[in-house]
Amino acid sequence: MKTIFKSMTLAVTAATMLAIVPSAAMAVGDADFDAPLAALPAPPVPADNPQTPEKIELGKKLFFDGRLGGDQSTPCVACHEGSQGWAYNAPISRGYPGTVHWRFSQTIVNSAYYSKLFWAGSSKSLESQAKSAAGGAVAGNGEFDVMTARLALVPEYREAFKEIFGDNVPKLANAWRAIAAWERTMVQRDTPFDKYMNGDESALTVQQQLGMELFQGKANCIECHNGALFTDEKYYNNGVPTNERWSEDGLAQITFRYELYAKGSTEKLYRHTKRDPGFYFRTKQKRDKGKFRTPSLRYTAYTFPYMHNGTIATLEDVIDFYNKGGGDDAWGTKTKILKPLGLTGTEKADLLAFLKSLSGEQITVETPELPDSVSLSEIPVVK
Ligand code: HEC
Ligand code: HEC
Repeated sequence: MKTIFKSMTLAVTAATMLAIVPSAAMAVGDADFDAPLAALPAPPVPADNPQTPEKIELGKKLFFDGRLGGDQSTPCVACHEGSQGWAYNAPISRGYPGTVHWRFSQTIVNSAYYSKLFWAGSSKSLESQAKSAAGGAVAGNGEFDVMTARLALVPEYREAFKEIFGDNVPKLANAWRAIAAWERTMVQRDTPFDKYMNGDESALTVQQQLGMELFQGKANCIECHNGALFTDEKYYNNGVPTNERWSEDGLAQITFRYELYAKGSTEKLYRHTKRDPGFYFRTKQKRDKGKFRTPSLRYTAYTFPYMHNGTIATLEDVIDFYNKGGGDDAWGTKTKILKPLGLTGTEKADLLAFLKSLSGEQITVETPELPDSVSLSEIPVVK
């Protein structure tokens, strides 16, 4: 549009102005294609890790098993709890003992659909994500050789890894494959929204249908939360406020600064910043400071509080946040897409009702019984 404005002369008539202005306004928000909202299809499965019932069952056990971690106290499920939306209902997740985490723990429900995982999109597959979670200092904090040794001491695992993967001794790479296979079953495709999109018009109330219209119209959520997963998987700074705990709580301070340091931020940044630079860690470009991957809006009825640092308590508050045009532009990188929306009380209620239609029943899973270990002398020697 810039060139058009440049070439415009003062002699331009009011009529041409009117013809140009609407498309100019659209160019700000609608520079990209917004994938239409849709029912969730079956999740993609990588060719080198096909789903089998035995693998899924093994992956579920491993997700609950502290052996895949440091002192065995922090299995995946410790921070992704079924009763907490398969996330962790605190603004900042619990961490490995002696630390707190530094970000909100996302749900694993529907994580099978993302092409990049974590708030800053740093992991490309569930398989590699599981590895970094089990080994990450503020998450599982496991040593890879110790975890391998622990699995080797469990006859049931030895048998399962042999049968499923042909491993003489369980390989960690296959543990991550099994966990990923189980996570690919933790999807929700029967929400009221999905039923509606699949033809059941009574699945959404009239209020929810009005909310869906707002979502795609006046409220403009569709600009970033689009497609079947309700995310474009791009990165934006919405001006989410900083988490005060990073200024006030010693342990959170230390963990936060450690993470900044470990991710290679400049000394000035890791000593002084009060905010999480997010996507900047991946690109080291100033323009990416404070940006985070657009999250899915599915299953969010259970995954409060919201945003990368959990600073927005409820979905009502999230809507108020957007209605004000998002938060402050502390990094100078805030997206231009967010603007005050002028939603009325009724419209906010309609939008909220629609957001709730993106969550179905709470997903529950029976806690698996974990197999016993034996002592080293009971393990046959393998060449
Ligand atoms: C100590 C807490 C903790 C433990 C243990 C933990 N996680 Fe997480 N998990 C988190 C936090 C916090 C995030 C978000 C971190 C970030 O984005 O930087 C996360 C993110 C994820 C995501 C990304 C979801 C998305 O939307 O991108 C997946 C998948 C996941 N964890 C699976 C696992 C698995 C599998 C394990 C075990 C191998 C595990 N987690 C162990 C806290 C934990
Ligand atoms: C400019 C892109 C963009 C637009 C427009 C947008 N969002 Fe978001 N949304 C994001 C990003 C990015 C995040 C994560 C921000 C963060 O953590 O700093 C997010 C987070 C959320 C969350 C929190 C999810 C969670 O798991 O924590 C909800 C709920 C949400 N948005 C709803 C909406 C609604 C409703 C609208 C319309 C009123 C909307 N969004 C408009 C990009 C957008």
